[in-house]
Amino acid sequence: MDSYKLLITGGIPLVGETYVSGGKNTSVAVIAATLLSDEPCVLENLPDIEDVHVLIDILAGLGAKVEYQPEERRLAVDPRGVNSCKVPYHQTQRMRASYYMLGALLGRFGQAEVGYPGGCSIGARPVDQHLKAFRAMGAEIRERGAKISAKGKMTGCSVVFDRITVGGTINAMLAAAKAEGNSVLYNAAREPHVVDLANFLNSMGCRVKGAGTDTIRITGQKKLHGSVYTVIPDQIETGTLMIAAAATRGDVVIRGCIPTHMESLTAKLLEMGVAVSDMDDAIRVRTVRGHRAVNIKTQEYPGFPTDLQQPMSAMLTRAGGDSVVIETIFESRFKHLMEMRRMGAQVQILDQTAIIQGVPELYGAPVTATDLRAGAALVIAGLMANGVTEIYEPSFIERGYEHIEEKLRALGANIRREPLEEM
Ligand code: EPU
Repeated sequence: MDSYKLLITGGIPLVGETYVSGGKNTSVAVIAATLLSDEPCVLENLPDIEDVHVLIDILAGLGAKVEYQPEERRLAVDPRGVNSCKVPYHQTQRMRASYYMLGALLGRFGQAEVGYPGGCSIGARPVDQHLKAFRAMGAEIRERGAKISAKGKMTGCSVVFDRITVGGTINAMLAAAKAEGNSVLYNAAREPHVVDLANFLNSMGCRVKGAGTDTIRITGQKKLHGSVYTVIPDQIETGTLMIAAAATRGDVVIRGCIPTHMESLTAKLLEMGVAVSDMDDAIRVRTVRGHRAVNIKTQEYPGFPTDLQQPMSAMLTRAGGDSVVIETIFESRFKHLMEMRRMGAQVQILDQTAIIQGVPELYGAPVTATDLRAGAALVIAGLMANGVTEIYEPSFIERGYEHIEEKLRALGANIRREPLEEM
């Protein structure tokens, strides 16, 4: 349990300029990919967040030499000293992306023993498609206790994913990067971080083609050389800031983002009556009139991202009219709305559908963050509400948002920490 809570006094429009940090979900993939290199690598623009810290600890535990400068957002990894293929459960259960150690270690050594991944509790989150890809490339897999062991020389092959999976696609790319021969991944995920990983692998001398489409072709290389690589800005942080600006009826310019990654959200905000304008690497969001209700169905990229469903549905609780939100990716991603009922939100939830009846006002109440994006959604709820909202378990938010409190304060938000009283 966290030793502090967040207090937000809502009702203040966010105004000003802010910036986007490096992508969480891209950073965790490229950090894992440094293990495949035969020379030192340098990663730049990494966000200073908990998930990045955990992965760096895992690399160090395997014997890699790591030099991390959080203020510079820079990580140097020399993977030549890696002398273990085992990542224990106490490390892997701290985050989801620890499962990339399987693909990276299999790719480098042809063997791996990795504890089951942790991460946000938003659904069952099986890894069958990851294991299917490893098996197709020649791995023998054993699942026992809380760990997965995989062994075998990686050989290029075709994999047709039964469903689109970001983690499965990335893990298969990691395993294929040094495999003998060509691999083709069909029904692959098209998210920006899949493309970023492909660009990083190519910068090390790998040959990855087609990332960003549903068919990715990888020609494995015996050796991969070192690289200095800058990760892309965080698509979900950009979207969260856009929604926070709109939800508070503010006027915010978000710098350092990639507007083309935001098209599905931008389209929905425009449909709601929010003014959104794109500049080269910046987006301005402002509210000029009341918000209309809209319907949302989450989909894989380039559809509406599940990671923005939670912040967006928080905002819809105050739109004019009824919104229907269908969550197609994860089974359990409406916990923030249940918490928000305490703040006056009118919501009915039926399996993976939420029907939100917009109300004119939310009021502050104590609520609990149950996962990263639920935490972000509750911050947005608090910014919109009249009075003081107390958010418990706020450390979930730090796992994925760099310095979010400082960024929001700089835009005028009244958000602060308070230690929990002793019981
Ligand atoms: N799935 C399977 N079998 C598999 C893999 C996935 O059935 O082997 C299912 C999942 O249960 C889910 C769907 O396929 O229903 C999609 O899952 P996916 O594999 O795409 O998700 P993930 O790789 O576990 C990543 C992000 C999530 C993000 C999803 C979807 C990372 C570390 N995590 O998860 O990010 O929601 O893709 O875009 O990249 C977050 O940042 O808050 C977060 C949860």
